[in-house]
Amino acid sequence: MQLPIVVSEVGSSTLQDQIFEQIRAMILDGQLKAEDPLPATRDLSAQAGVSRNTAVLAYERLIAEGYLYTRPHVGTFVASEIPEDALSVLRNGHEPGAIEHRLPRTPCPSIRLQHPRDAHQLVSPHGSRLTADFWVGRPDPASFPTKAWSKHIWRRLQSAGTGLTEYGNPAGLLELRQAIADHLGPARGIIADPDQIIIVGGCQDGFNLISRLLIEQGTPAIVENPCYQGAAYVLQCHGATLHPVPVDREGLDVSQLPGMRRAVVYITPSHQYPMGVTLSLPRRITLLSWATENDAYIIEDDYDSDFRFVGSPLTALKGLDRRDRVLYLGTFSKCMGPGLRLGYIVVPPPLSDVAKRLKALMSNGQAWLEQAAMADFMSSGGYQRHLRRVRQLYLEKRDALIAALDENFGPGTVSGADGGMHLVCRIPDGLPNVDEIERRALSKGIGVCSFSSGAALYFGDDDGQRRHLVLGYAALTPKQIKKSISQLAGLLSPNSHAPKMVASSAASEAEA
Ligand SMILES: Cc1ncc(COP(=O)(O)O)c(C=O)c1O
Repeated sequence: MQLPIVVSEVGSSTLQDQIFEQIRAMILDGQLKAEDPLPATRDLSAQAGVSRNTAVLAYERLIAEGYLYTRPHVGTFVASEIPEDALSVLRNGHEPGAIEHRLPRTPCPSIRLQHPRDAHQLVSPHGSRLTADFWVGRPDPASFPTKAWSKHIWRRLQSAGTGLTEYGNPAGLLELRQAIADHLGPARGIIADPDQIIIVGGCQDGFNLISRLLIEQGTPAIVENPCYQGAAYVLQCHGATLHPVPVDREGLDVSQLPGMRRAVVYITPSHQYPMGVTLSLPRRITLLSWATENDAYIIEDDYDSDFRFVGSPLTALKGLDRRDRVLYLGTFSKCMGPGLRLGYIVVPPPLSDVAKRLKALMSNGQAWLEQAAMADFMSSGGYQRHLRRVRQLYLEKRDALIAALDENFGPGTVSGADGGMHLVCRIPDGLPNVDEIERRALSKGIGVCSFSSGAALYFGDDDGQRRHLVLGYAALTPKQIKKSISQLAGLLSPNSHAPKMVASSAASEAEA
């Protein structure tokens, strides 16, 4: 048996005292239990790098104080009864339960887990599997490029070399950072040097890294209202004070930006989460000027911009950023799959060294194999082909959803349907609120989301948030979509004469 004992010549206590204290602590903490055998003094001295005599003296003291006992010709063991004075130490407050634990700097908000329906437990309250789940943000499982991915993984494994046995660059594999930089230019209008790119474990990891970089206790964080929970809660956990600013059909209403300096703005300009609107160009420009004037940083979350169905995508905010105000977050969760846990941040050059050092402290980088396979997938052209294919697939699903909503609830305009993987429907007066719809749908094996169950945070107590359904369609087939929307309509208007559910625009919401 080996004990985790480490002694040092530096310091005032003797080697014998250090061994005594460490074994005593192990017994009091319960790591060593009554009747556990101790290593022979010869083994202990070799392991701890002390003379045998030092080990013997330490054992003798532990025996003398009643912590250990010896069985002749057998060995040394932990005593079955801990000495009285040691117990009194425990009673005086060292018992684990008696310790007053310091709370985190900022208590964590009561975060509702991002995925209330675990992928393997898509079940209704009656225990049956959901037949259709409109839960947001899940790619089509059949769309994952398994063949190409296996090829790249296998090839990399064959030539893994030191990839798996050495620590890599904490900022990420250079080949992947280069491939991302090459992709971002034409795809998002962002000219980035690979040196500015840090590979992270998805946007969520990115939010944490950026918060460590920019947030102190009380830092103002401007967020969209409604906004993505996963980001808002992280900012709050790091001590930020949230300042919600409303969203309308042009995205964040920049005319309502508060006059405060050194704030952080979290925003989803390409496809606002959850409303799905796009931040207009004039507002992008106003926001960037506001950030420059107020010495603020903008966190641009570009989570699902690979899917744009109408017109050409607007250049990312980062692509317009001439003053290094924007930290851009990209993720492979939507275009590939969230199981990969791969994303990246484009950090303004003045912040990139500190950000890389923080990444080293937080996790020392991401797993090598997936980074390497992703780099190969991108540089071989496979990623572009995959994106084109999935874009077409999601367009068909989106159209199926709009058609089903039109057919069953009457024609209307849909918020957020120009891109991404979800859209929003506003529920008109006369139909139950979203919680009731969610409950009724679930009883029939259909999963639909409200803002809160769809990972969105709404600030305010008006009823607006309860009149919206958030419908993710990417993981469903057109057939499932058609069937379940018709079932949902039946559930809400059994006589088929109930008020029509109209798809909303964020503007009508803002006007309401
Ligand atoms: C707005 C938004 N940002 C980020 C993410 C999560 O990204 P990741 O899986 O990369 O952490 C999501 C997930 O659905 C999202 O909706």
